[in-house]
Amino acid sequence: MEYRKGNGLPFFNHIMCGIIGYTGAEAAAPKLLTGLRTLEYRGYDSAGIALSDEPILTVKAKGRIDLLETKVKEQGSLPQTCGIGHTRWATHGAPSDVNSHPHRTAHLCLVHNGIIENYAELGEELKHDGYSFASETDTEIAACLIDRFYRESGEPVSAIAAACKRLRGSYAFGILFEDRKNVLYAVRKDSPLIAVHTGQEGVIASDIPAVLAYSHTYYRLEEGVIAELSRETIRFWSPDGREVTQQSETVDWNVEQAQKGGFPYFMIKEIHEEPTVLRKTVEARLSAEGLPFFGVKRIDEIARGDFDSIQIVGCGSAMHIGLVGRTLIEDLARIPVSVEIASEFRYRDPIVGKRDIVILISQSGETADTVAALRHAKEKGAFTLAIVNVIGSTVAREADGVIYTWAGPEIAVATTKAYSVQGAILYLLAIKLAIANHRISEKEAKTLCFSLLREIPDAVQRILNGKEKIAETARLIQNAEHVFFIGRKADWDICVEGSLKLKEISYIHSEAYATGELKHGTISLVTDGTPVIALMTQEDVCEKTVSGIREVKARGAFVVSVCRESLAKKYEIPCDACLTVPDTEELFSPLVAITALQLLAYYVSEGKGIDVDKPRNLAKSVTVE
Ligand code: G6P
Repeated sequence: MEYRKGNGLPFFNHIMCGIIGYTGAEAAAPKLLTGLRTLEYRGYDSAGIALSDEPILTVKAKGRIDLLETKVKEQGSLPQTCGIGHTRWATHGAPSDVNSHPHRTAHLCLVHNGIIENYAELGEELKHDGYSFASETDTEIAACLIDRFYRESGEPVSAIAAACKRLRGSYAFGILFEDRKNVLYAVRKDSPLIAVHTGQEGVIASDIPAVLAYSHTYYRLEEGVIAELSRETIRFWSPDGREVTQQSETVDWNVEQAQKGGFPYFMIKEIHEEPTVLRKTVEARLSAEGLPFFGVKRIDEIARGDFDSIQIVGCGSAMHIGLVGRTLIEDLARIPVSVEIASEFRYRDPIVGKRDIVILISQSGETADTVAALRHAKEKGAFTLAIVNVIGSTVAREADGVIYTWAGPEIAVATTKAYSVQGAILYLLAIKLAIANHRISEKEAKTLCFSLLREIPDAVQRILNGKEKIAETARLIQNAEHVFFIGRKADWDICVEGSLKLKEISYIHSEAYATGELKHGTISLVTDGTPVIALMTQEDVCEKTVSGIREVKARGAFVVSVCRESLAKKYEIPCDACLTVPDTEELFSPLVAITALQLLAYYVSEGKGIDVDKPRNLAKSVTVE
């Protein structure tokens, strides 16, 4: 065995990626490339395809899928009708042609999404069996392990099953065996993988958008179940070799939703969908009387106060919307709420038990840290409630109760519409809890729900109608090195998200500060021309934020206020540029103002010529820890 790196072991290859596989009557290469483009949001450090043939043909490239496409074209005519493809996001094991998937062995070729934790031990074993490795990846070790069992049995399903028994960690595999032409194999554990079959062609993919062009009905493979797809059929095998059936699921997303629809980027398209998806999400959760209705039995018990605490857990923007949820639930229902970062949750050994509710928020429902937090909370006996966008995803399936959002497919790495609809669900939950806690009457609740259903989507639409002004403002700040966001209460909650949005897609260093916290250090970073974005949608703290603006203005800041229309008229705001937000029920203003911040981030990124949908080093669905 040839070891490449310092300690003599292959690099631990933390990856999260997109997998695609096709078998049918048509040439596979273009199908695989199209699928990979749909999955590119999952990673874009390198990509590769393998085509079923004797020998199997592989083409790989470091970098974006365009580069892979060029290399594929250089191959000339590729008539093969079955293959697998992969787009990779690497954290360890540098992006390179050799580390790109698919990985080859003597008998097979494989793509992988996940982490093989016991790669070192298996590598040693395989070395004794005469294997050597070309790459630095744990994936190659998994490929060799399957190869070893295949050498013994000559039977793909039993070889895959035997290897899976030995693997620790997470994986979704797409596999081609050289002597099983035009047959595709797939298996998964703790990493997402779906399969579809139309009777004429079969496809495997990491996510739904990549299969929509084939079918809206798909199988989410049960853990350990091995799928075998040929042109004519799809068959499933349990790990002990019995043929089994899988439950199919249907999604009502359409192909157009997973395309840019005339917009230059998915992100701007998805922001434009916010009014529609907000309406859809709220409408689906209102009873005939116009009150919040979730169809989750335990929520009624929760609403009656039959619990000790609420903890909201998520990663990134999903955690940030939790901050809005905390402010809301505490404000409206007077119930204490804490917000936890999912990656910290289980390590902090949180105080959580049978009388607690843990709300997990996730667009994808596959984020590894959120899944781990969910399992930890369940283990401790808490009631787990998921707010999730992707139907049938791991978080959705494993939580005790699930409330789906109706955002449709979200492709841009930086989330926008999914954040907004998560917010809408939290508002509805807060209203429900407030009624049960006798903080508001049903009549008041109905008015709030009505506002959420009608007023908020309309106000978001008005922000979209005025996007040119936001684009102009973006040009004023796009060359800054640092940007600060300030606000109080719920305004601070959305500052945190606005700041993340800006930094992740524009690469400008940005921080969000509670206005009052500025003078405890941060203000020393404000110098001549430093942009400060001041949020003002909450009247009771508006004057305080105006004082904060004066403080930064005195240090030379360039201040952009994002202010509710009526407050902009009422208060003299010493700013350099003002973006107004339509007046709505004050409680809901943050849900409207966030659209302005998302647009601001978008236009800064676009103005800088960045690939808005695929910011460097990031991926949408972080399925590894
Ligand atoms: C990644 C994405 C973020 C997202 C976070 C959580 O970091 O880039 O936009 O907020 O994951 O994802 P989830 O699917 O759990 O909401």
